[in-house]
Amino acid sequence: MKVLAAEMIAAAARRDQFPPCEHPEIAFLGRSNVGKSSLLNRLAGRRKLARTSGTPGKTRLVHWYAVHRPDDDICFVDLPGYGYAKVSQAERRSWRGLVESYLEGRDALRAAVLLQDIRRDPSDDETLLIDWLRERGIRVILAVTKSDKLKPMRRAARAKEIRGAVDLPAADVVVTSAEKSWGIDELWQAIDAPGDEVSDV
Ligand code: GTP
Ligand code: MG
Repeated sequence: MKVLAAEMIAAAARRDQFPPCEHPEIAFLGRSNVGKSSLLNRLAGRRKLARTSGTPGKTRLVHWYAVHRPDDDICFVDLPGYGYAKVSQAERRSWRGLVESYLEGRDALRAAVLLQDIRRDPSDDETLLIDWLRERGIRVILAVTKSDKLKPMRRAARAKEIRGAVDLPAADVVVTSAEKSWGIDELWQAIDAPGDEVSDV
């Protein structure tokens, strides 16, 4: 996928700071440190678009990035990560409020890319989130991240286990590595696919 240019357009801590919808939006969400910002950078082909960090919980705001392509523009929305242990109850509630208010009320939202570390099993956090999103008619793409951390045999076995643990079409589960740039074209294809109509489920 050719990306002509990409830039951050907004950051928000509250709903009233959300920018107007200018392009179709793809949201990135998942556990803190799972690799959301890194994968988004890889897709955009811009190393330093979204800030990445070895310190979990770095991205606390919702960030919007416009990605300009030859035929259209799209917006990547980097949502703050969940499940970081050193976070207070109050912060958890505020995360939930912020993320839910984005996901529930955004007309421009086309799909959510949920990220899952290849070395972990999807937990209730992920399976409940998948159900929650699909109940609201939001298409879910599962990006399995950091696949470079495993040897090929183990990688294939883990990918199969993760596919078996989630109720998603095969093309919507993509094994990736932001580090090695694996699975990036497949992820773009999943993002651009029209997807099954889930609104009447
Ligand atoms: P928060 O914003 O804190 O929720 O984290 P995030 O999900 O945006 O993760 P981020 O992209 O900042 O990456 C977290 C750490 O994982 C960084 O140290 C990255 O270098 C590393 N990382 C991300 N993707 C990969 C990958 O594909 N392979 C490897 N080996 N490391 C990765
Ligand atoms: Mg991040």
